[in-house]
Amino acid sequence: MSNPAVYVPSEEFVSKAHVRGIQAYRDLYRRAEENPEEFWGEVAEREIHWFEKWSRVLEWNLPFAKWFAGAKTNVSFNCLDRHLATPRKNKVAILWEGEPGEQRFLTYQELHRLVVRFASALKSRGYKTGDRAIIYMPMIPDLPIAMLACSRLGIIHSVVFGGFSAEALKARVLDLGATLVITADGGFRRGREVKLKPAVDEAISECPSVRDVIVHRRTGGDTPMQAGRDHWWHQIDESATEDCPAVPLDSEHPLYVLYTSGTTGKPKGILHTTGGYLTEVTATMKWVFDLREEDTYWCSADIGWVTGHSYIVYGPLSAGATTVMYEGSPDYPQFDRWWRIIEEYRVNVFYTSPTAIRALIRQGDHWPNAHDLSSLRLLGSVGEPINPAAWEWYYRVVGKGRCPIVDTWWQTETGAIMISPLPGAIPLKPGSGTVPLPGISPDIVDLQGQPVGTDKEGYLIIRRPWPSMIRTIWGDPERFKEQYWSRVPGAYFTGDAARRDADGYYWVLGRVDDVMNVSGHRLSTMEVESALVRHPAVAEAAVVGKPHEITGQAVCCFVTLKKGDWSHDELGRELRQWVAHEIGSFARPEEIRFSDALPKTRSGKIMRRLLREIVTTHSVSGDVTTLEDLSVVTRLASQQEEE
Ligand code: PRX
Repeated sequence: MSNPAVYVPSEEFVSKAHVRGIQAYRDLYRRAEENPEEFWGEVAEREIHWFEKWSRVLEWNLPFAKWFAGAKTNVSFNCLDRHLATPRKNKVAILWEGEPGEQRFLTYQELHRLVVRFASALKSRGYKTGDRAIIYMPMIPDLPIAMLACSRLGIIHSVVFGGFSAEALKARVLDLGATLVITADGGFRRGREVKLKPAVDEAISECPSVRDVIVHRRTGGDTPMQAGRDHWWHQIDESATEDCPAVPLDSEHPLYVLYTSGTTGKPKGILHTTGGYLTEVTATMKWVFDLREEDTYWCSADIGWVTGHSYIVYGPLSAGATTVMYEGSPDYPQFDRWWRIIEEYRVNVFYTSPTAIRALIRQGDHWPNAHDLSSLRLLGSVGEPINPAAWEWYYRVVGKGRCPIVDTWWQTETGAIMISPLPGAIPLKPGSGTVPLPGISPDIVDLQGQPVGTDKEGYLIIRRPWPSMIRTIWGDPERFKEQYWSRVPGAYFTGDAARRDADGYYWVLGRVDDVMNVSGHRLSTMEVESALVRHPAVAEAAVVGKPHEITGQAVCCFVTLKKGDWSHDELGRELRQWVAHEIGSFARPEEIRFSDALPKTRSGKIMRRLLREIVTTHSVSGDVTTLEDLSVVTRLASQQEEE
């Protein structure tokens, strides 16, 4: 390995940081390692308001953890009520810009009022602790309002990204057993209305559990409403009250379920609970984003993904930050929309994804250069490995060489950031998430659980439980055990490959399972395959991630057809559309390749590994001894060369 560049934080940055200098980090890390429960107990006490304290920090029955069990708290209370007795009362909590350009500045006091009103409306309709709600909304403040109202009452919510199709929505409503759906007529994207309510209608026509659909009016478009079931938000608000106290909930009460792709066709509902989750997302806001009272903080993710849950809504609001939300697309009306937002609101901390960075690089430096970005002091990256060239551009062109970049490694399952520089403490190496946060014990091992040693590639695991960890897969504890806790005995299996260099820096290399990472969004190959084989023309399908300059990976499908007279061009287009309809437009395949057969083992398993090699290196050099018919691979590889 050549020695990568190292960027040391400036003295000015270090002098004001929450954690100052490498020794401060080491001390904190060592203390947490020596006595993790005492450490997390202190953090929980410092960061969160508890109505009642715990008697034990952790109950660990591998793989089931209970953090601060028996203690009582409430997420909505911590994100809102507790700030009202402080100078934050009239501080802007959510600073929102709609794509057409409207603005809403909600102070903590105003946000509290809106959340309480909505919670009271839910309560008066009979919703209570333990009920389940699906939230399917655009990026408008009413989305966090819905989340906070649910958490105020202990209603377990599941936010479904607005880009998911009716089919995907239905699967989630059914799996969760939701009785309530909160949605909007639509949202704005690239200057057009994107309707949401029709997908809800389609999805829940086969979901008898749903009693109420509450619809926020965002676009004002034509929206059919079903009498008795559908209610406009503004209408139910008429009878709402401003008296709806936060319910003291057990620390282990489920907060939300977020569905993510696993290695099968069925998405898994990742369950996060209350006290431990909130403790860790609040603490990491300070450690990683070095949050200061006066900061304007912007995470550009969509709230439909975990990044938005933890670092647009729960982390920032619990920490009392001003969090920016933008509804639309970065290229609307032109490619400088994000830079305009940073300039206009004087954003200090900006957190985005490598895919977005690469897409913006392609548009040219003149877009960011035309704006005053001098308010920025810290940049962040999440969702996939950031390639050093994109890192350097982000550092130089956006941060003007002044702003540390925190490359944060974590997952839907981890709930909070796990590996990341502390910006006032850790020298940066472009492309590395650097070191674990205090209280987090990762390692890189082989399948026997043996550490692989410096600079060797292996499986990234986490050895010890942490407060914001996944508690189970909703309704499927066996799958939870099998997926995360059975590969390396006693440890949490992340599904990522990584190596650690001589300085102890982690370099995450990507997934080791059949999960793709497209634009930082997780997508399972099996999910796309199941969608494809539901099409009447398709006999078999195998899907792999193909390297892509902007999105990291793109979806590439190998398809064999049933007998018939198919036009490949037409069918290719149709199948791409089909997958978008079945899963969501973000899953639309980049490429469909037709083949007369797929490479299989003698026992009939499709060898995706070989297909991955074909799309990555255009040839096959790996082990083919288990292959049933070698000529299939030769044909597929030569087909690629011809293109
Ligand atoms: O492969 C890793 C990659 O994204 C996966 C988690 O995806 P998801 O649950 O959708 O959460 C994304 C946002 C937290 C990981 O298993 N990943 C995430 N962040 C990084 C990363 N890979 C490398 N570097 C990162 N900073």
